[in-house]
Amino acid sequence: MRAVARAQPNIALIKYWGKRDSERNLPAVGSISVTLDELFTRMSVQLSDSPGADTLTVNGEPSAKMLPRISRCIDRVLGENRPAANVASDCNFPIAAGLASSASAFAAAVIATAAAAGREFSSAELASLAGAASGSAARSLYGGFVELENSDDDDISVSSLAAPDDWPLSVVVAITSSDSKPLGSGEAMERSRETSPFYANWVSNQGVDLDAARTAIAERDFRSLATVAEHNCLKMHSVMWASRPAIVYWNSATLNCLQTIRALQADGVDVFFTIDAGPQVKAICAPGAEADVRAALDAADGVQATMRSGLGPGAVVEQAA
Ligand code: PMV
Repeated sequence: MRAVARAQPNIALIKYWGKRDSERNLPAVGSISVTLDELFTRMSVQLSDSPGADTLTVNGEPSAKMLPRISRCIDRVLGENRPAANVASDCNFPIAAGLASSASAFAAAVIATAAAAGREFSSAELASLAGAASGSAARSLYGGFVELENSDDDDISVSSLAAPDDWPLSVVVAITSSDSKPLGSGEAMERSRETSPFYANWVSNQGVDLDAARTAIAERDFRSLATVAEHNCLKMHSVMWASRPAIVYWNSATLNCLQTIRALQADGVDVFFTIDAGPQVKAICAPGAEADVRAALDAADGVQATMRSGLGPGAVVEQAA
């Protein structure tokens, strides 16, 4: 009746931004991400013998804020008429600051809950369950390069485009603030859909970027992947900046990091940036580039710390009893 699962966050190279059905949390666009290795959420789900109130600790502290979302996620996996769950989540990186902590948390929650209850689900069912909790969580079920397809069906589908070892890129994350983000991604996406004059264009052009990224990954063409990923990231933030009220997650150090990465590129270093719903900058590095990139970002004004990670596997159940 207890299971522990571990899942890594993922970083989108072609972004998910916007919902076509907010009730069922279905994305308006497809997306492509890389799953990380060294950053993770480990989640223990213990099911009691009877119904009752769930409990949740995050890094050892009770978390009233996340509890309703975790409870709803467990409801979706087991149905509402279910035993109470005691959930303990531990995360080795800052939460809710644009580092996709919800992706690793909900991927881990879904598979730990299923294992604790002894339930088997197909990979499509797991993707829908994780995606219903957090759109990006479905991608953390798989390792390496992962595509989430947006179709007209009610379900989402997720597939692996390449394994971590097929193209061992690495990621340097520059932390420019450890504050919680001012606006959650779900609310920000809805505001973008309702108010941004660029939103419809964002949605209709996504297929072009997905095609370019898929080809670049298949051909291990770093420069082409860099070009389309940076374009897609800046386009997503342009949608947000043009929303009303504007959604600006960046701070001055975010921009310093972008300039640092531009300078590295001018020196021939194979690196590109991406930024999610937060002020941190993720620098994606070709094999061999990481040391120079990390040193440069550590020295950028306003960077508090850097972390690094290779590409890693999908979510796994570590223990079930
Ligand atoms: O899965 P959510 O609801 O936390 O949204 C993720 C949104 C971005 O991180 C900005 C983009 C993405 O594809 O991960």
